[in-house]
Amino acid sequence: MDKIHVPVLLKETLEYLNINPNGFYIDCTLGDGGHSFEIFKKLSKEGLLLSIDQDQHAIDFVKEYYKDSIKENWEIKKSNFSKIDTLIKQHSREIDGVLMDLGLSSRQLEDSYNRGFSYLEENEPLDMRMDEELGVKAKDILVVLSEKELTMLFLKYGEEKYAGKIARAIKQNITSIYTVGDLTRLVYRVVPAAHQSSKNPSRRVFQALRIVVNDELNSLKEGLDKSFKLLKPKGRICVISFHSLEDRIVKDYFNNLVESGEGLLLTKEIIAPTDQEVRDNPRSASAKLRVIEKI
Ligand SMILES: C[S@@+](CC[C@H](N)C(=O)[O-])C[C@H]1O[C@@H](n2cnc3c(N)ncnc32)[C@H](O)[C@@H]1O
Repeated sequence: MDKIHVPVLLKETLEYLNINPNGFYIDCTLGDGGHSFEIFKKLSKEGLLLSIDQDQHAIDFVKEYYKDSIKENWEIKKSNFSKIDTLIKQHSREIDGVLMDLGLSSRQLEDSYNRGFSYLEENEPLDMRMDEELGVKAKDILVVLSEKELTMLFLKYGEEKYAGKIARAIKQNITSIYTVGDLTRLVYRVVPAAHQSSKNPSRRVFQALRIVVNDELNSLKEGLDKSFKLLKPKGRICVISFHSLEDRIVKDYFNNLVESGEGLLLTKEIIAPTDQEVRDNPRSASAKLRVIEKI
C-alpha cells in the first residue's frame, strides 16, 4: 500500500518540537506516520517515540509501510490520546514533546474501509467511527436524536446555519437514509441555492456528526490537559487544528496556562501553511499550529 497522507506544517512542527535526540516524544495522531517518521529519524538509540492512533487501520498501515525502519525505540499503540496517562505508565520518564495533528487523515477520507468519513463517497454507509470498537455510528445518531437535538448538534458542532431545516428533513426521511449519498442529496435539496457556494453544503453536517461519533472535543480537552501535566519543564506541545471548534479549545487552554504562569506561548502569531504548501497540498489550507512550552 502507498502512503496517501501528506504531513501538514512538517518543517514548522519539527522546528517547534526542537528535538533532543535522547528525549521522549509522543505523536498522538500517527495517521500515515509522516510526522512520526521524521521525529524518529532525529532520535538517538536513547531517545523514544511513542505513536498513538485510535484507528487500527492507521496502525496496520504504518507497521507494514515502515517495517524496515521501526526499531525498539519507536513504539506504536492503538488508543485514544485521551488515555495518554495510562499508556505511558510503563515508562518512568517525563515527556519532552507532544504532537497532535487533529482530525482525519487523507487515508481515512480516500480509503475509509467503508466508514463514510467523506461526503464524496456516495455509496459508503454512515458510520464515521475512527475506532471501530466505539458503539455508536453516525446513522444511529440520526435515528436516536430528536429533531430538536439534531438541530442543536448541527448548530453546536457544525455551526450550520440551516441546522433546523436539515434536522427536520432528516427526521421526515429517516427510513430512506442509509448511505453518504442519501444524506448529501437530502442536504442539497434542503439548503437554499444561495448557500451552495464552492464548498460542499454537507461539509458542516459531516463535521458535526464525526465530532459527536468520536467525542472529539472532549478527547482533545482531556488529551491536552494530561499531556501538559506529563511534560517535563521546557517540554512542548504542538497542536495542528483544522476548524474553529478545535482551535478555540487549544487557544483557551494555552491562554489559561500562560495566565497561571505554567506555560510560555511560543506562537504569539498563529502558524499557518505557506501559499506554496497550500498549492502543493490543498488539504493543509485550514491548518493552524499553536505551541506551548512548560515553564
Ligand atoms: C490528520 S491525521 C494525522 C496525520 C499524520 N500526522 C501524518 O503525518 O500522517 C489524524 C490521525 O489522528 C487520529 N486521531 C484523531 N483523533 C484521535 C484521538 N483522539 N486519539 C487517537 N488518534 C486520533 C486519526 O485516526 C488520524 O489517523
